[in-house]
Amino acid sequence: MAIVLHDPDELEAMRRAGRVAAQTLAAVAARIRPGITTAEIDAWVREDTAARGARPSQLGYKGFPAAVCTSRNHVVCHGIPSPHERVEEGDIINVDVTSELDGFHGDTSITVCVGSPGPRARHVVEVARRGLAAGIAAVRPGARLGDVGAAIEALARREGCSVVREFGGHGIGRRMHMPPHVAHHGPGGRGPRLRAGMTFTIEPMITIGDPEIRVLADGWTAVTADGSPSAQFEHTVAVTADGCEVLTERVAGSNS
Ligand code: MF3
Ligand code: CO
Ligand code: CO
Repeated sequence: MAIVLHDPDELEAMRRAGRVAAQTLAAVAARIRPGITTAEIDAWVREDTAARGARPSQLGYKGFPAAVCTSRNHVVCHGIPSPHERVEEGDIINVDVTSELDGFHGDTSITVCVGSPGPRARHVVEVARRGLAAGIAAVRPGARLGDVGAAIEALARREGCSVVREFGGHGIGRRMHMPPHVAHHGPGGRGPRLRAGMTFTIEPMITIGDPEIRVLADGWTAVTADGSPSAQFEHTVAVTADGCEVLTERVAGSNS
């Protein structure tokens, strides 16, 4: 299937969906404290998303049982919220919110540091945050999709970290997951040429140990094979005439 080019009206709808996802993520992340359960995060996402007139896209997606992914410490992605899982001082936890508004989707995540995680965990969080920024900086019309992953991988290597290769970003629009697949590793100079109107996510998963992962028996939860911490940040972006627009930017103080 070809990569969809969105027209100005569709991009405006994507902006609205992206803004809702970003606002829900900001509101929920601000409430994370030691002692809460990840099921509480799920409840907050459901309430906040509904209050904004949107729907949590992940709920029921291929049978996913929750409204949000909560991925703690050595969980790489797709962690399932649970009333039995408590957030503790020193944890790092990724919260991944995807919202559907008026038929369009916005998808964004951050990794939150709870209190003072150890130096390795803090480092992997910073490298994931900077890896997303490096990927975004490579987005412009005429660039190749492989340039995005190459920029992320170069940064990760420079910082002594690794990129998880089993999962990538994805086209997004009228569906949560659409072509193309967005690898977070190189080589650069290859892959589809970026064109104005394309919308996709960049969501690097970075590890500080071995990049090898396995998926637990629940069929969803991906963890590092060696138990080392992993972090992820995600934005939904649009290719514009002269560069890149982040559709899920969190704007300080505009949480409503
Ligand atoms: N929001 C996730 C992503 O970034 C989607 C995970 S699929 C789910 O692509 F079913 F686990 F929600
Ligand atoms: Co995504
Ligand atoms: Co996501």
